[in-house]
Amino acid sequence: MSDTSLPQRRELRTPLPGPKSQELAARRSAVVSTGVSSTLPVYVARAGGGVVQDVDGNTLIDLGSGIAVTTVGNSAPRVVEAVTDQVADFTHTCFMIAPYEEYVAVCEALVELTPGDHAKKVALFNSGAEAVENAVKVARYATGRTAVVAVDHAYHGRTNLTMALTAKAMPYKRGFGPFASDIYRVPTSYPFRDPEGMTGEQAAARAIGMAEKQVGADQIAALVIEPIQGEGGFVVPAPGFLPALQRWCNENGIVLVADEVQTGFARTGAWFASDHEGVVPDLVTVAKGIAGGLPLSGVVGRAEMMDAVHGGGLGGTYGGNPVACAAALASIETMRSEDLLGAAQRIEALAKDRLQVIADKVPAIGDIRGRGGMLAVELVRPGTTEPDAELTAKVARACHEQGVLVLTCGTYGNVIRLLPPLVISEELLLEGLQVLEDAMVAASA
Ligand SMILES: Cc1ncc(COP(=O)(O)O)c(C=O)c1O
Repeated sequence: MSDTSLPQRRELRTPLPGPKSQELAARRSAVVSTGVSSTLPVYVARAGGGVVQDVDGNTLIDLGSGIAVTTVGNSAPRVVEAVTDQVADFTHTCFMIAPYEEYVAVCEALVELTPGDHAKKVALFNSGAEAVENAVKVARYATGRTAVVAVDHAYHGRTNLTMALTAKAMPYKRGFGPFASDIYRVPTSYPFRDPEGMTGEQAAARAIGMAEKQVGADQIAALVIEPIQGEGGFVVPAPGFLPALQRWCNENGIVLVADEVQTGFARTGAWFASDHEGVVPDLVTVAKGIAGGLPLSGVVGRAEMMDAVHGGGLGGTYGGNPVACAAALASIETMRSEDLLGAAQRIEALAKDRLQVIADKVPAIGDIRGRGGMLAVELVRPGTTEPDAELTAKVARACHEQGVLVLTCGTYGNVIRLLPPLVISEELLLEGLQVLEDAMVAASA
């Protein structure tokens, strides 16, 4: 049932960008803020399964999923059908004015799928940043405390509060301050860059020690953390790091907020990345992959925390829009019936093998990491951990020119990340990896 009427193959009919994309780029430069940039120089006409087709008829392999969003594929058949039906029924009433079943059904699904079998409640929003903001609101309200702790390399969004939680200045924060106050930053676990042999427990002790010195555990409302960091470089913490943080939070009345905006919904081969280590956060933020490309996000958490807030304290005009909710229900159904958790695990096995083969030929590959369909290579000057952002940009550009959409990330801009739609065929994935290999071998020669 994976789409699509679009042929699932890479096909370049013009050099990229083609003439129609160039025309659109000219129109864009007249009216679109340069503050909004795009990775690819081509303009999209259609997308489905594991490919994106541009306005010149070029078909590219999609290894980015619109930044981890189209997990079920672009225009996935169930999503298209559910959205079409919902649009015909009604498009919006505002759940805060006149409620509807789709919102409730998404909350039921979230209660069931998120880690832990404690009583949970949910509130829905539009974007990942909005979910993180609301998780902090809930944590502050529920604890009566104000301090919030975030970690190095974190990314939580571009609103004022989430910029404050985000670590990297360029391009996310520079020039946009002053930022929300009472936010504190502590080191995380980054096995490739931590002292050799540092365990997860040791990295957690380092983080906890700094939080206790800077703030004091009894002042902290929440620790906000991505179980696997996204924009920060697909950093998978050492085993034991997240469980140790959870223990510390539980012992000190600190709300553990797992930001699963990028890692949630089958992306890492589990419903949520917290599941890999049996971590049960107090609050979980979700967005991106939840709704097959429609804007929807949420905070799922302990019922007593979510219910601590006064009526009307949470919400928004569009939060939990019925069309987005219908898309979410169809996406979740697709993940279940097409076993996309299993698909993510298969992608990990296949891609890590291939990436290891590439690493044997390309000494600039310092680290291969990630889980499921969330994989990355970190590029460095051979034999060191010195980041090579230039090489990374060159490799990404070469892939784009050959019709393979890869993304970069990382605090040092030196990580190539792979986030294919989980419905991508093995052939297409292997072809994309072959193009990546050729680009890496050529760029590092
Ligand atoms: C972990 C994480 N949190 C929050 C966000 C912000 O989500 P949005 O761009 O939908 O506001 C992102 C987006 O990349 C993310 O990866």
